[in-house]
This record gives sequence, structure tokens and C-alpha cells, in this order.
Amino acid sequence: MKEKLILALDVAEYSYAVELVDKFSAYIEIFKVGLELHTAAGSKIVEAIHKRGKKVFLDLKFHDIPNTVAKAGIAAARSGVFMFNVHASGGLDMMQKCRDEVVNVCLAENIARPRIIAVTVLTSMSQDVLKHEIGIQHSLNTHVRHLAGLSLKAGLDGVVASAQEAALIRSHCGRGFLIVTPGIRPSWAAADDQRRMMTPKKALQAGADYLVMGRAILNHADPGQAIKLIQEEMARA
Ligand code: C5P
Repeated sequence: MKEKLILALDVAEYSYAVELVDKFSAYIEIFKVGLELHTAAGSKIVEAIHKRGKKVFLDLKFHDIPNTVAKAGIAAARSGVFMFNVHASGGLDMMQKCRDEVVNVCLAENIARPRIIAVTVLTSMSQDVLKHEIGIQHSLNTHVRHLAGLSLKAGLDGVVASAQEAALIRSHCGRGFLIVTPGIRPSWAAADDQRRMMTPKKALQAGADYLVMGRAILNHADPGQAIKLIQEEMARA
């Protein structure tokens, strides 16, 4: 369970993030560095996590022209992260070029290849928003399935999606395709801005490989206790 629960370090200060890593290293193997922390603290936070023998999921959701995303992917690989992500809606060429260039650099420089996964549809987005604001006319599930298939075709290792779509993705993309699920809420936690949520136990039962959790842990009065409760629930799945 230590490997499957990824703690989202959604904080703005480098020193606070390091404090959290030191505090929870005994229970957490992979820490997620996202937009807020990376923008505020820079890549030194990635180095600090690695120095403590822990893995980094770099959640910067690259979405740009293929060349720019590929170069960002190479920089991520050289920084030694365990996993990073791109937006599947950036398209096949963008994902493929990123994967190919990262693989080539890793082979040439003898560095461990990071897992590259693609965001399908953000877990904060509802069917209504997808249709009326973004203009996607087919259903959310159809869109997620399509983007997951595109990510597989591009040679990526998996996707970020809501656990509500995990079973659908598993049947469409097969075993071995990673499903990383944010939007996880134990029954006792607040929903915040997430819309497509699931409990830790149900997410694992639906086929999720990794659960990404932030606020349900960090906003808890006793984050250590929250991690313990979540991992106990995961063990029952
Ligand atoms: O606090 P909470 O557990 O909702 O945090 C979820 C984390 O997962 C956030 O860091 C968010 O950026 C990230 N994420 C997400 N939905 C996605 C991809 C990433 O919520 N589709």
C-alpha cells in the first residue's frame, strides 16, 4: 500500500514540502510535485525528494506543440523522476514524439526511463462542463475511452483518470496499462472541487494502480492518522 498511495504535495513553500516528505517518508514511497509547488520552489524540490530516497511523480501536465513537450519530457527524464504526465488532448503526434525522444535519451545516457502517462479528462470536470463549455458532444465516458486508447496507441504507459472510469479503461486498454486516479475521497473527507470521485477501496477494486491524494490528507487535523486510515481501507480492497 506504501507504493500505491501517492501524496500530492500541493503546498507553495519548499520548506513545508520538505517537512511533509520527512514526516511521511515512513508511509509514502511516491510524492507528487505539481504546478503550484514546482512553480514556487523550482526543480530543487525534486532533488530534495530524491536525496531522501523517495520517488517523484512530476505532475506538470505538459500540453504544447510536440517539440516543446518532447523537450520538457527529456528534462523530466534527466531530473530522474519516476513518472510524469502530458495531456492526451495534445494529440497523438505530441504524445508519440515525447515518448520516442525520452526513450532515445534514456538509452543514450543510460538513465532509468520514467513512466509517461496522459491526463484524459480532469476529475474536476463534469459531463455538463465537457459538453457545454468545452464543446465535446459525445459522452464523458466515450471521450475518456477515446483519449485512453490514443495514449496507448502513442506508446505511453498509462493514463490519469477518475476511478469512475477505471473499469472502462482497463477493458479498453488491457492489463499492464497504468491507471492513476486522483479525485479520491474517503467517506469522511470533503469533496472540495472534485466532481468524479471514488473512495480508496472502490478505486482499487475498479482497477486503479495508483491513488493520488492531497487535501483529504493534508487538510485533516492529523495527516498521519489520515494516511493510516486510508492505507487500512486500501488493504481491505
Ligand atoms: O486534493 P486532491 O486529493 O483533490 O488532489 C488531487 C491532485 O491530483 C491535485 O494535485 C490535482 O492537481 C491532481 N489531479 C487531479 N485531476 C487530474 C489530474 C491531476 O485532481 N485529472
